[in-house]
Formats: sequence, C-alpha cells, structure tokens
Amino acid sequence: MRNDSWSLIQFPVVKDDRGNLTFIEGAQTVPFDIKRVYYLYDVPGGAHRGGHAHKDLEQVVIAASGSFDLELDDGHRQQTVTLNRSYYGLYMKNMVWRGLGNFSSGACCLVLASQHYLEADYIRDFDEFKRLVSSGKNK
Ligand code: TYD
Repeated sequence: MRNDSWSLIQFPVVKDDRGNLTFIEGAQTVPFDIKRVYYLYDVPGGAHRGGHAHKDLEQVVIAASGSFDLELDDGHRQQTVTLNRSYYGLYMKNMVWRGLGNFSSGACCLVLASQHYLEADYIRDFDEFKRLVSSGKNK
C-alpha cells in the first residue's frame, strides 16, 4: 500500500498592492512536465464531476477561483479536501479515484495534467478500479 497518492502543494505568491501573483512551472513547482491544462467553470449548483481514476495520468487540481470539494480514494485511504485558495494545488498520482462537488458559485477548477487527453487512460468503473488496486497493477 502506498500512502503518498496525493499531497497538497503550496505555490509561491508574489504579493503586491496591485494584487497577488502565483506562478507554476512544470517539473519544478509541480512534479511533472505539464502537457495539458483544462478547467471546469459555470458548474451548476449541486453538480458532481469526476467519478473516475487514471491508469497513468498525474494531475494537479487548483481552485483558481471560488471553492469546491475534492473526494479522493486510492483504494486504501479516502479523504475529502476542500480547495478554496488559488495558491494551493492538490497533486494526485495515477490510480486515484476522484470526485468533485460542492462547487461555489463562480468556482473555476483548474487542472494541470502530465499527459495529453487519452480516453483509454480512464477507469470509469469503480469495481474495475478496486480490482486493479487489489492486483497491484498500474502502480
Ligand atoms: P471528464 O474527464 O469525464 O470530466 P470530469 O472528470 O471533469 O467530470 O471529461 C468530460 C468530457 O470532456 C469527456 O467526454 C472527455 C472530454 N475531455 C476532453 O475532450 N479533453 C480533456 O482534456 C478532458 C479533461 C475531457
């Protein structure tokens, strides 16, 4: 069992009377080269997203504005993390089942990804995810 499937990263903040600035550099402030960026926004109240894991993909999830809850499960440990500051990122290794919910109005969920989009990398069936975790594959 691994106990480091996810971790919180605090990004640098350049404070300024004109507003704060946070920067993220691939393979430096996050532990992988960034190949893809996507973001969720205009999320209707009560909507739930995610509901899958990835065989190889690593990601960092950031509340660029507003807040939401990230529900994490690596098959051994579950944790719900509330993201509500734009200078924090939640780093996830591969093989983490995730859900996103409780989005505030105006929330923007920014995601940095280690790979280009590949549907074959998704595990969308929770029982299959649990089977793969038990068999020790994709670690
Ligand atoms: P999905 O990852 O299931 O959304 P979420 O986990 O945020 O609920 O993706 C939703 C749809 O968007 C799915 O049909 C695939 C498509 N999509 C892309 O085409 N490219 C991407 O980079 C991502 C993340 C999704």
